[in-house]
This record gives sequence, structure tokens and C-alpha cells, in this order.
Amino acid sequence: LPVCGPPPAPGPGWSTERVARQYIVPCMRYYGICVKDGFLGPGPGGRVLAEVEQLARGGAASGGGQLVSQRSIPSQSIRGDRIAWVGGGEDHCGAIGALMAHIDQAVMHSAARGGLGGRFINGRTKAMVACYPGDGTGYVCHVDNPNGDGRCITCIYYLNKDWDVQQHGGLLQIYPEGHNVVANIEPLFDRLLIFWSDRRNPHEVKPAYATRYAITVWYFDAKERTEAKEKHRLATGQKGLQVPVTQNRT
Ligand code: OGA
Ligand code: OGA
Ligand code: MN
Repeated sequence: LPVCGPPPAPGPGWSTERVARQYIVPCMRYYGICVKDGFLGPGPGGRVLAEVEQLARGGAASGGGQLVSQRSIPSQSIRGDRIAWVGGGEDHCGAIGALMAHIDQAVMHSAARGGLGGRFINGRTKAMVACYPGDGTGYVCHVDNPNGDGRCITCIYYLNKDWDVQQHGGLLQIYPEGHNVVANIEPLFDRLLIFWSDRRNPHEVKPAYATRYAITVWYFDAKERTEAKEKHRLATGQKGLQVPVTQNRT
């Protein structure tokens, strides 16, 4: 697992701007992978978890996307999770919306500091809420964006309290291209993971034996997305749809 940047666990005094500058930017430069624990804190993180559990129970009376079975290709044998797409403005999704705004800030601050390889980020997908039911399914080794569909950064926020990899599995393993290492990422509560979405980071989810929740969002590189449109390389489905990042409120 890459050990990133100078700071010990940033505390309450840490602004998103500082997390971006001192943590995300150097990590992405050196490793192309960044792990940030305690991203929201226990209160807001717990509220996100409550909303996700509600979605998983089939709640969200609004019809705002309960966790549905993955029926389309890729099939169950490739990925065993159930997913729902959330914009953040739906009923009972306020905490997820706040999480998205927070990730937006971290990513946009990092990009503004030139920390994302000079990428100009102009949008992202909605939030993909994923639930592995704990029946031993995972997600085979893959690259999120192998063919230049416009997605440049993958951000995954994990929600699993008291997760024990020995017992529950569900490890995310990343095999960074050109490095003879494996990054083992445990899907721990309130942990944010950021990595390049392209061929630099093949990764897989090991079989999970307990309910495993994660929220993923992909950020678009303006130039690559324009080219992808011209070459008809945009991802299909929700992964190809662009929404604006939250306006900077600071
Ligand atoms: C994905 C993915 C990893 C994880 O959805 O593309 O790789 O740890 N998820 O949930
Ligand atoms: C995938 C996937 C769903 C979608 O490609 O792995 O889950 O709506 N697609 O794009
Ligand atoms: Mn992936």
C-alpha cells in the first residue's frame, strides 16, 4: 500500500484545500493512487451509510434508485454487486449529496494546483452506489477506462465499519502499471480512495463474505471526453453521462 505524503491523520483543522495540497496532489504524482482515511468524519460518514442502507433495503420512496440487480452486461460472473445511480438531489439522499460536494472540492482543489497531471476536469458521473451482498462475489481484474472514454479519475468512498479482511474478504487490489507492487486497499468506513482510471491501474475486488458498500464517482477530463465524443468512445449507460461538479462554495 503506498504511503502517501507527509501528514499523519489530518484532524478537524484540516481544510479540503489543505488535504488536496498536502496529501492528494503528492500521492497522485508519486503513486497515481491516494488513500485518505477519515474523509468526512464519523457523523457525516454515518449519515451517508444510513442512506445507503436505506437504498439497499429498497427504501427511498421517491423512486430515486433502489439498489437494483445488475442485469446488463457485464454479467454477474464479472461483477457481483448491485448498483444504484444517485445524483444527490433525490429524497433521502442529502448526505450522499454532501459527500459528492466534498469529493468535488477535493478533486477540484487538486486539479487547480496542477496536481492532476494538468488535466482540466469539467464534470463527473453521478454517484454509483454499489453493494456486494456478501455471497462470495467480487469483481474480476479490470481497467475502468481502457479506451479513452473521458473518465480520468476514479474516486471510491467506503462505508464498512468493523471490516476484517481475514474474515470478510472484499479487498481491493490495484496492480499499478510499471510498479512491481500490489496496493491492498481495505474497504474501511469513511475511507476515500482516488486513482487514475486508465490502464495505469488495473484492479480487482476479491470475493466479499459480508455486505460491502462503496460509492464511486468518475471525473471527466474535458479534452479526452471531447475526443471520445468524436471517436464514439463514450462509455454507455450512466457511466457515460456527465453532470456538473458542485459549484465551489468556499
Ligand atoms: C468498480 C470497482 C472497486 C471497489 O466499481 O469499477 O472497481 O473497491 N470497484 O468497490
Ligand atoms: C459497468 C456498469 C452500468 C452503467 O460497465 O460495469 O456497471 O449504467 N455499467 O453504465
Ligand atoms: Mn473498477
